[in-house]
Amino acid sequence: NNNVEQYRSRFHFTPEANWMNDPNGLVYFDDTYHLFYQYYPHGTVWGPMHWGHAVSKDLLNWEHKPIALYPDKHGYIFSGSAVIDKQNTAGFGENAMVAVYTYHNANLEKENSILYQTQGIAYSTDKGETWTKYKNNPVLDNPGIKDFRDPKVFWNVDKLKWQMLLAAKDHIQIYESNNLKNWAKISEFRLNDNPPLGVWECPDLFKLTVEGSTEEKWVLIISHGGESSPNGGSGTRYFVGDYDGITFTTNQKVNKWIDYGTDNYAGVTYNNTPNNKRIFIGWMSNWNYATVTPTETWRSAMTLPRELKLIKNDNGYLVKSKLIDGFDNLTSKVPEAQITGTYPTKFSYSNLQHSVVAFNATINTELSLELSNKDGDTYTVGYNKNTGEFFVNRGKSGHVDFNENYKKSAYQTMQIGTKEQLSITMVLDASSVEIFINNGEYVMTTQVFPNSDFTNFEIKNPKGITINNFEFKEVKK
Ligand code: FRU
Repeated sequence: NNNVEQYRSRFHFTPEANWMNDPNGLVYFDDTYHLFYQYYPHGTVWGPMHWGHAVSKDLLNWEHKPIALYPDKHGYIFSGSAVIDKQNTAGFGENAMVAVYTYHNANLEKENSILYQTQGIAYSTDKGETWTKYKNNPVLDNPGIKDFRDPKVFWNVDKLKWQMLLAAKDHIQIYESNNLKNWAKISEFRLNDNPPLGVWECPDLFKLTVEGSTEEKWVLIISHGGESSPNGGSGTRYFVGDYDGITFTTNQKVNKWIDYGTDNYAGVTYNNTPNNKRIFIGWMSNWNYATVTPTETWRSAMTLPRELKLIKNDNGYLVKSKLIDGFDNLTSKVPEAQITGTYPTKFSYSNLQHSVVAFNATINTELSLELSNKDGDTYTVGYNKNTGEFFVNRGKSGHVDFNENYKKSAYQTMQIGTKEQLSITMVLDASSVEIFINNGEYVMTTQVFPNSDFTNFEIKNPKGITINNFEFKEVKK
């Protein structure tokens, strides 16, 4: 049924049916990327969590797999990560895939205990096909903190130990282990946010080399629930700093966000990727309205996978999210829509659909462009060189009345500074728009629910910019 599937992403991961939230257990093994995810197989709203599972060779074409982890007597299976135990430190077998996740015990929660979140592990010796829970779960008890979850485990090559980050309500805790079973706390990371941001969730920590140098820094990622993010609802922050194998420290004073749009949450990165690439995937929704978006048989998609890169400029360190290299293979150029050299006074293109629009522009005064459809729905984008503000407006983009918070976050802005030159890449799928400025220095990801597909693209103030290079690409899927 076309109607039901209208918002089904063509080239973003979606569950075949029912509810999905966070990406979990991102790990590469034996030429295959695994994507596990928070999954409720019996409805299109959040419920007792399982880990769904999919695999891919290129992070873009996914094959659905059976559910990997089911709730058990210790609780629902909340978010977490996966590692490959090359040296069989846990005794589950050489190269066992080990999932480390949070147990959420709803019964304890009902009894008003605050001890209902603990950490458990499970393993697979057949590349994630079948799973066995560890018999002595949980491996880490609750220390008396109500929100204690989302373990990110990685092999610290400098220390030859497993390390685990945990979100502990309003700070991060770091643990260490030799065998994935016994964990000892080694440090905490806190901030003096005033006012404090919403509950800390889904942490990640990894090393990146500053592009064009040999300087190495560590990046800490924290997702925040509640009303935390710049344009409303839940969002994901990052900090660039140092990590001595025990404690993470940072001098960073201002908040920097992985994505300034409302719809990229709980994102984390892959373990064990080839060439040490740092690949990030986020959940393309927002807790403010995730359970009521107008899709009917399934809910939510993942963001496109993005490669994180570290750069250093006048504003300090910046984590870029760029489209993965392989994404271009999914697209083909639309030759008649290419423009180079002198920009015509009015330019529009009306064959847009599941497309990528990319251009470099010299900004004379400001940029203003619009996506629209035959129903008169619009999605507008703009940048003002004087104020340095970039915005998107989804206020008239179709179905916007399904939720007050969605409606409130119609107009979304980010400060990108005064720039002469901008490179803009807009990726449009059935119900999402991802905008990458300057190859991902700033990103805005938003969900949209137009009455019909956006097919028109128009520059609204052609005198405001000079286009140096213009390209429409179709996504082949
Ligand atoms: C983030 C989150 C996690 C938790 C999971 C439950 O979106 O709240 O903190 O583990 O979702 O589904």
